[in-house]
Amino acid sequence: MRKVRDYYAQKAKKDKYPARSIYKLEEAQQKYNFLRRGDSVLDIGCYPGSWSLFAAEVVGPKGVVVGVDLQEADQVPRPDSAKIHWMCQDIRDEDFVKNVRRIRPSFRVLISDIAPKTTGSRWTDAQQSMILVEETLRIAEMLLLPKGHYIVKVFQGEDFPDFVQGLKKRFDMVKVIKPDSSRVESREVFVLGMGFKKQPPGAGGTK
Ligand SMILES: C[S@@+](CC[C@H](N)C(=O)[O-])C[C@H]1O[C@@H](n2cnc3c(N)ncnc32)[C@H](O)[C@@H]1O
Repeated sequence: MRKVRDYYAQKAKKDKYPARSIYKLEEAQQKYNFLRRGDSVLDIGCYPGSWSLFAAEVVGPKGVVVGVDLQEADQVPRPDSAKIHWMCQDIRDEDFVKNVRRIRPSFRVLISDIAPKTTGSRWTDAQQSMILVEETLRIAEMLLLPKGHYIVKVFQGEDFPDFVQGLKKRFDMVKVIKPDSSRVESREVFVLGMGFKKQPPGAGGTK
């Protein structure tokens, strides 16, 4: 197992990405192709910036990426990539959506690898993860374009099946993905929703 972990860490170093998590997004992208040339992408929980760098490469110079995190990221996009706007903010802040809209009013794709600080308790970590994940979905409801796509990391806990069921009402297709580069013993999975069924304003939330 350690060998696999080291393999992806080494590979990230060689490919000049700041985190090995890039390969989880890459694997999902290779399979489902939810990022396209020219897309606008919001990356929630972006630090140190691998997912944003990768998304910027895929969407290319006509696309745009906004990456947000509690920590300031400053990676420089590669040539022939989209511009990346780095935001340093807590997504739970009241003015978060308003501040994103100043950069870009809406997005074709929302990607999120957001994770709480781990406590060592699986139960607490899964609960904290789900609170953040629910927040990313609330943000998607406001910022995602009709037919847009959403991928989020979740630490599976007792609320996980309900979350997936809720997503099925909001997207045309929902997949739960366990990438090869994710540790087998980790409870993390990625949930992909494709084809957002945008509701008119005031029509209600995710339930
Ligand atoms: C696993 S890291 C993301 C790695 C990133 N996808 C990459 O490839 O470089 C998870 C991030 O979520 C961020 N995060 C956690 N809670 C947050 C919050 N409330 N608002 C914004 N970012 C948050 C953390 O600061 C952390 O940097």
